[in-house]
This record gives sequence, C-alpha cells and structure tokens, in this order.
Amino acid sequence: MSKDYVIGVVGATGLVGEMIIKCLEKTSIPIRKLKLFASEKSLGKKIKFKDQEIDVLELTKDSFSGIDILFFAVLSSLAKEYVNYARNKGVLVIDNSSAFRMEKGVPLIVPEVNGEDLVYHQGIIANPNCSTIQLVVALNNIHKEYKIKKIIVSTYQAVSGAGKDALLELESQIEGDTEPKILPIKSNIKHYKIAYNVIPQVDEFLDNNYTKEEMKMVYETQKIFKDPSIEISATCVRVPVKVGHSESIYLETEKP
Ligand SMILES: NC(=O)c1ccc[n+]([C@@H]2O[C@H](COP(=O)([O-])OP(=O)(O)OC[C@H]3O[C@@H](n4cnc5c(N)ncnc54)[C@H](OP(=O)(O)O)[C@@H]3O)[C@@H](O)[C@H]2O)c1
Repeated sequence: MSKDYVIGVVGATGLVGEMIIKCLEKTSIPIRKLKLFASEKSLGKKIKFKDQEIDVLELTKDSFSGIDILFFAVLSSLAKEYVNYARNKGVLVIDNSSAFRMEKGVPLIVPEVNGEDLVYHQGIIANPNCSTIQLVVALNNIHKEYKIKKIIVSTYQAVSGAGKDALLELESQIEGDTEPKILPIKSNIKHYKIAYNVIPQVDEFLDNNYTKEEMKMVYETQKIFKDPSIEISATCVRVPVKVGHSESIYLETEKP
C-alpha cells in the first residue's frame, strides 16, 4: 500500500456512510483521494469533504481500481454482490453489513475490544451490529477479569439503526399522521407506526422465535469474545428515538 491512501465509501449517502465520511474528515490517516459511491439515483449529488465537494458516483463492478481501502455501508445483499470484485482488485474492504461477519477468516472487530484480531484478515474486515458493539465494549473488562458465562440483554434501539428512510419516516409521523411504510422491515407487507410507539421486532423472525437482530447479538458477541459457551438471550425493541441505542444487561460470571 502507498503511504497515503485512496479511500472509498460505498453507501456514501446513507446514515452510516455519512458518519464514515465525518470520521474520515477527522482522521490522521493521510488520504490522497476520497471516492464516494451510491446508487444510480444519487448520481449528480455532491458531498462535502473538508474543503472539497466530491461527486457521488454510481457503484458498478468496475468501481474499484486504484482504491486502497473501501468502506461498505450498504445492505448485506449488495455487499455480498460487490465485495469480491473489490477484493479481486486488491482493495482492503471494511464492511458494516452483516454479510461476512460470521465467516471464518473474517475478523469481526471492535477496536477497543479485539483490535488484535486484525492480524488474520484476508482482505475483509467486518464491523459488528450496532447493539453488539456497545454490549461488548461495556462487558469486555468484566469478561477479562471474571469470565462471563451468561448474558440476558434487552435493547431499546433508535430508529437511525434502520437507515435514513426509517429516520425520515419517524420525523414525518411526528409532524403529521403519515402511514408507516418502512418499519419493522421495508419488504414486509405489514408495517407499524414508530412515532409514540415501540415495536418489539428488529429484523425478521427466525424459526427459534428470536429475530435475526437478536441472534446477531448472540453469535457476534461469542465470536468477539472467542467463547461460544457464553449463554446469551437478547430481546431487541425499536423505540421512537432518533439516534442512540440503550441496553439493559443482566450478567452471570464464573468468578464471583
Ligand atoms: N444505521 C446504523 O446504525 C447501522 C449500524 C451498523 C450497521 N449498519 C449496516 O450498515 C449498512 C448501511 O446502513 P445505513 O443505515 O447507512 O443505510 P441507509 O441509510 O439506508 O443507506 C443505504 C446506502 O446504500 C446505498 N445504496 C442503496 N442501493 C444501492 C445500490 N444499488 N448501489 C449502491 N449503493 C446503494 C444508498 O444510496 P442511495 O442514497 O443512492 O439510495 C445509501 O447510500 C446496512 O447493512 C446496515 O445494516 C447500520
């Protein structure tokens, strides 16, 4: 890799992409060029980065030449479709979706907790689910000292976690009485209002009656703590808060 980097953000117009761009503005990593990608509908948009206005480009399979590090902040189906094209061009991918999190050989990194796992990456580094991140950061030192054997966690998840369309929906429901079209899952036929409400479903239900989001918290926590024996039960609830998840955690440890 060169001493200064060409960095890309896929999903640059989304909530996570916007936040990545803000972090890149503050980072000391030397950036030679920033390339921003989104869907065809964002063609023509410009995004401010430091003192520049950067054009948003349409993501295609040929988008990846000359990029050193590429952040993916799109749906996991899109990440699955495009990440390998980037890897084949020698790009280091940092993926925010759930597409690769549980794959062997893909480190699932929370820098404050398991940054040392970066050594085994093979071109993809995954970022955990937002609820998992704050759980493991809170529990890491307790786990190191007392070895956690059981976690019962309940989440109160902000609407930002469901992306920019969900956030716009909350805002428009607060202002007027617009019909819900996004939550709990955009592709579902039935939607529920989130303004002045709570929705006890984040992502799809699975055969075990937990949701995907709840099981992500189980498997991702076990992977990050490198301990599949930790018993975990999660209940994930969407609350009408714009940004900022909360959690309540019950713990049992091996050492008293
Ligand atoms: N929000 C969170 O707190 C959070 C936390 C952790 C992980 N994640 C994960 O991060 C990913 C992004 O989440 P988000 O909340 O940022 O979603 P979002 O606000 O809905 O943004 C989605 C982004 O994907 C882009 N996109 C959609 N279709 C595309 C296509 N065909 N080609 C290229 N780009 C396309 C959109 O571009 P257009 O504007 O052009 O449509 C937009 O930039 C998801 O996998 C999510 O699960 C989110």
